[in-house]
Amino acid sequence: MKKRVYLMLLLISVLFVAMIGFKHYQVVQKRQRLKQESIQREKMLKTKTIAEIKKTIQTETVGAVSFQEVILTQPAKIGLVFPVLENQKISSQINQKIDTALAAFKTKSKQKTDAFYVVMKASRFKDNVYSIYYEIQEDISGEKSKISYAYTFDLKSGQLLNWSDFLIKPEYIETLKRFLVGQTLKPQESFEKIETLPFSITSDKVMFYPLASENLDVFSIPLSQITAILKPEYVSEKVATEALQVQNKIMPIIDRNVPLTPEMSSKKLVALTFDDGPNPVTTRQLLGILKQEQTIATFFVLGERAAQYPEIVKEAYDEGHQIASHTMNHRNLVKVSREVAQAEINQAGATITNITGKYPNAVRPPYGATNDQLNASYQAAVVLWDVDSLDWQSKNPDAIYTKVMSEVQDGSIILLHDIHPTTISAVPRIMNDLKQAGYQFVTVEQLISSRTTLENGRQYRRISPN
Ligand code: NI
Repeated sequence: MKKRVYLMLLLISVLFVAMIGFKHYQVVQKRQRLKQESIQREKMLKTKTIAEIKKTIQTETVGAVSFQEVILTQPAKIGLVFPVLENQKISSQINQKIDTALAAFKTKSKQKTDAFYVVMKASRFKDNVYSIYYEIQEDISGEKSKISYAYTFDLKSGQLLNWSDFLIKPEYIETLKRFLVGQTLKPQESFEKIETLPFSITSDKVMFYPLASENLDVFSIPLSQITAILKPEYVSEKVATEALQVQNKIMPIIDRNVPLTPEMSSKKLVALTFDDGPNPVTTRQLLGILKQEQTIATFFVLGERAAQYPEIVKEAYDEGHQIASHTMNHRNLVKVSREVAQAEINQAGATITNITGKYPNAVRPPYGATNDQLNASYQAAVVLWDVDSLDWQSKNPDAIYTKVMSEVQDGSIILLHDIHPTTISAVPRIMNDLKQAGYQFVTVEQLISSRTTLENGRQYRRISPN
């Protein structure tokens, strides 16, 4: 009996000792863990990267993008923000940049008053398109510096986006550059690298973040100024409405094959027409200028010259310009026999069709010399002009410019010749000032068909609005 009681007591005391021991073990464990943590923290402050810092103070969320903020006070003031994204590809890129900057800061920092801060913002542009913008602010021994970065990406694919991804055509980057030169009065070189600049995009503007070495400040462009070059899916209803009110904006660039919208037709329209080419030197120069200015024109080519330089005609056609006929050999059709006149027209038509695949639906008789009988035989619209630049006579860019600008009106058809270097020299200034005056460049075909009907045998000069 007694033996059993002893055994029981012994068992209880063993359990008691075991419990005490376990409790003590737990306390020791906790102490060790805390010590471990503090060592880790010490270590982290000295060496770890932000991806390993997990002391979250605050979280901010924009759509599917969250941020975590970390504030540390040792060895200097450090405030970090880093993105928390499902897509590791994007967040690791950003974190790496911050890590590198932080590591550099730690090497340079000597005082407790030094500071390293990261400020970060996100914006959701559309669907999965997000921008993350951040700024690294440093203060080392009282010397302050600030660097901005931006990432715009498709959150779903993890793909970083280029600015040209938002444009209807990648070459509209050039249009944007020229627009910015006009807006900022900075030289064109300043915007040379715009396609590679980091940028962020919000519902109403795009911001570019040039590198410090690029000698350019951070700048923004309201989307309402550039709707003409943005892919339609990126133009919200709000921005499209704003664009109607904005005076200073990129004018719509229109395609030869696309009919004018009512909004475009209500603008001042002008058709630049170039006769007597193609010329292997000057026509090529002109095509380069038209391409750079994103401007469309009409070429009244001579059949014999087109046959000689078919590749230039094809190039002009492929770039969206209208190819019309100026007859085969530049004869005065009123002064030759009907058979000769007919041959002049037919041969040119056939030559152009062979090159472009399209019979020219507009003809300009040499010297503008024509009559009702001839008009009826052209099987094309008979296009004359209301503004004669007299470029062949003056051969002076200033005189050409002055003549055109003093006579141009809404709906004008301007006569120029792409075979004179002096005409080519006058063209950029004419185009620039007409654009500034609110003119929209169109082909002859677009001008006519947007305001009246294009009919074979009918004679056209200026096409005034209604
Ligand atoms: Ni001519």
